[in-house]
Amino acid sequence: MKVTVIGAGYVGLTVGACLADLGHTVVCAEKDRARLARLREGTVPFYEPQLPEIVRRGLGGGRLTFSGVGEDAADQSQVIFIAVGTPPSADGQPDVSAVDEAVRVIAPHLDDGQVLVLKSTVPVGTTDRIEAVLRHDTGAHRAVACNPEFLREGSAVADFFHPSRVIVGTHSRAAAEVLTALHQPLECPILVTAPRTAEMIKYASNAFLATKVSFINEIAAICEQVEADAATVAAGMGSDPRIGPHFLRAGIGFGGSCLPKDVRALAALAREHRVTPSLLEAVLRVNDAQRQQFMEKVEAALGGIAGKTLAVLGLAFKGGTSDVRESPALDIAGRLLAGGAVVRAFDPAAEEGAAETLPALICCPDAYEAAEGADAILILTDWPDFESLDWKRLRKRVRTPVVLDGRGLRVAASAIDEGFAYIGQGPPKAR
Ligand code: UGA
Repeated sequence: MKVTVIGAGYVGLTVGACLADLGHTVVCAEKDRARLARLREGTVPFYEPQLPEIVRRGLGGGRLTFSGVGEDAADQSQVIFIAVGTPPSADGQPDVSAVDEAVRVIAPHLDDGQVLVLKSTVPVGTTDRIEAVLRHDTGAHRAVACNPEFLREGSAVADFFHPSRVIVGTHSRAAAEVLTALHQPLECPILVTAPRTAEMIKYASNAFLATKVSFINEIAAICEQVEADAATVAAGMGSDPRIGPHFLRAGIGFGGSCLPKDVRALAALAREHRVTPSLLEAVLRVNDAQRQQFMEKVEAALGGIAGKTLAVLGLAFKGGTSDVRESPALDIAGRLLAGGAVVRAFDPAAEEGAAETLPALICCPDAYEAAEGADAILILTDWPDFESLDWKRLRKRVRTPVVLDGRGLRVAASAIDEGFAYIGQGPPKAR
């Protein structure tokens, strides 16, 4: 099939490159000229495991090309995905102006054999609205569908090839058939629904994941008071298949460009329709409180942070990505700087984005440099590499052997063995 993807960000580029890898002919249209030039050279402008190889393979095989928006012959594509950003606006709802702009550019070229697909996360009712706009502007019926994305940053390629499900929201039988055929090789359940239902599935999924994280964070806070071990409580709960083991890692809370934004958007949608989003608001409140509670732990452990040197390990919103959007780690690093601490930070991929936001950070080439002269080590992102740190080496670099683990990594035993005081979830573990 010939496919056009408008927007070569995390979602658009991953989907486009992976579809090309499946054998389709894909054009990714990107309006940012600098990003476009880098993509044409085969450079992926963000950190995403496996994606650079897949992009280069697509480019080399001629199945993947890049163009400016409106420059491609999208009129020859059977499927046109819109995967542009929908950042939060002031009222909590996503700003869909980039989606509307993409529709405006594409509309004059659409014919009735083509399917226009919204990949971007859009407010409920957007797919129906766009279908109506196209009918009004072109005087003809156009096949429009919502196909929400469930890729996680850091494992987006693996998630594309092994999806748990594909959701297709459309009123058009032709669109349902084309999108079912496109996803058939992925061998997963395909659920065809009305567009509004598909849009809600996306919001409800992210809101539920966020709810699990806030739930376990509240449980962890109770565990701390009653001297129970939160990680073991999560493991014990998670082995019940009705609960499941995922998204039960307590820590400094969820961040990123999706979970916080989508919970806020769903709460705003609820209020707009006079439904009180009590649970969603509590999920956000608990999440906000995590950062403050972590700061209090740091203050208590060090007797204040002004003038202290702190080694911050991790700045990205989670391990496996260079993304610092709504990163709890970056937020905490900012609070530490504001409190008068010297922050020596290391992140395997997110240094550039973090330094733009917080120029006062001292960015270090590795964890050991970051630990030089530190009064404490703070683990703020769950990079797997942090689980194999050499604590003997770290012990030689720090001024005071204290580690505060904001991500519940498996480091307590090795840190304690080397003489560190370990403060994680639950009561402080003694040396
Ligand atoms: C999330 C969803 O997981 C994807 O399915 C969805 O496609 C994507 O949003 C999106 O809407 O585009 P992502 O933003 O990549 O993916 O991040 P997650 O893996 O969901 O993690 C979100 C946050 O929760 C991170 O800050 C992570 O550290 C935190 N988290 C996650 C925890 O604190 N504890 C956990 O147990 C799990």
